[in-house]
Amino acid sequence: MSIYAAPRHVDDLSTCTFYHAMDLPGVGSVPGNWDLRGRFEDYTANVALARARFLDIGTASGFLSFEAEKRGAEVVSFDSASRASHHHVPYREVRTDPATYGATAGADNDDYTGLRNSYWLAHRLLGSRARCFYGNVYDLPAELGEFDVVMVGQILGHLRDPLGALTSIAARCRGTMIITDNMLQVEQPVAAFSGNINQPVSPIRHVVWWQLSPVLIRNFLQILGLESVSFAINQYAFGPPDGPKNVMALSTLAAVRTEPAA
Ligand SMILES: C[S@@+](CC[C@H](N)C(=O)[O-])C[C@H]1O[C@@H](n2cnc3c(N)ncnc32)[C@H](O)[C@@H]1O
Repeated sequence: MSIYAAPRHVDDLSTCTFYHAMDLPGVGSVPGNWDLRGRFEDYTANVALARARFLDIGTASGFLSFEAEKRGAEVVSFDSASRASHHHVPYREVRTDPATYGATAGADNDDYTGLRNSYWLAHRLLGSRARCFYGNVYDLPAELGEFDVVMVGQILGHLRDPLGALTSIAARCRGTMIITDNMLQVEQPVAAFSGNINQPVSPIRHVVWWQLSPVLIRNFLQILGLESVSFAINQYAFGPPDGPKNVMALSTLAAVRTEPAA
């Protein structure tokens, strides 16, 4: 049996939650939380993708997967199999009101129905051949094979154990790993804990654990056999899908494998 998900046939836009803004044939421009249109090269460190095996970690609505495919990559999209495996900062509201703030809170609990629907609708309308694997970021199976380019976009800060996840992800990387995230701009190899009891209760304060510094990421990737080759900071548009966008600076670090993974 294949480890990849059977495609969902999605044709109703109203069942979709778009994380990425996208242009879809027959539908037009669909708003999302992040508008990375025209910014793919910055977000992915200008890495060449023709004939590359590309792994998209935390694909969400799949914008990065579909853009990589347009550039000639053979794409595997990854997302988590179950929201129950997402760990949240254990603020009081998370501990006492899991139905509202816990990992499986919300109308599309369990498997992120709306987010997955957005991926599969875009997949079909774009005629994508990308395969999608739902699993555990801390334990990516060897059956996925190895990848020339592994994209780790804005997921590490959401993970209780980002270094455990990087260890699992790096084992699948035979070429270049790209990490784009809201990094801590200091010269030390440190992580800042994002939790703070003084932040007002909100729908999002519990979903961000860390800001890692580029030096920490660089040093840890070296331990995993990858050498950093580029670093850049760029601005991107984000905000509520139906509201005005703000600008956020994200760092992009690329590293190449210099020692065998195993
Ligand atoms: C903030 S979005 C980033 C989307 C995309 N990678 C990008 O850079 O635009 C984080 C993604 O990571 C996924 N994810 C996978 N495993 C996760 C976990 N254990 N905890 C939190 N998010 C996880 C989420 O489902 C979501 O698709």
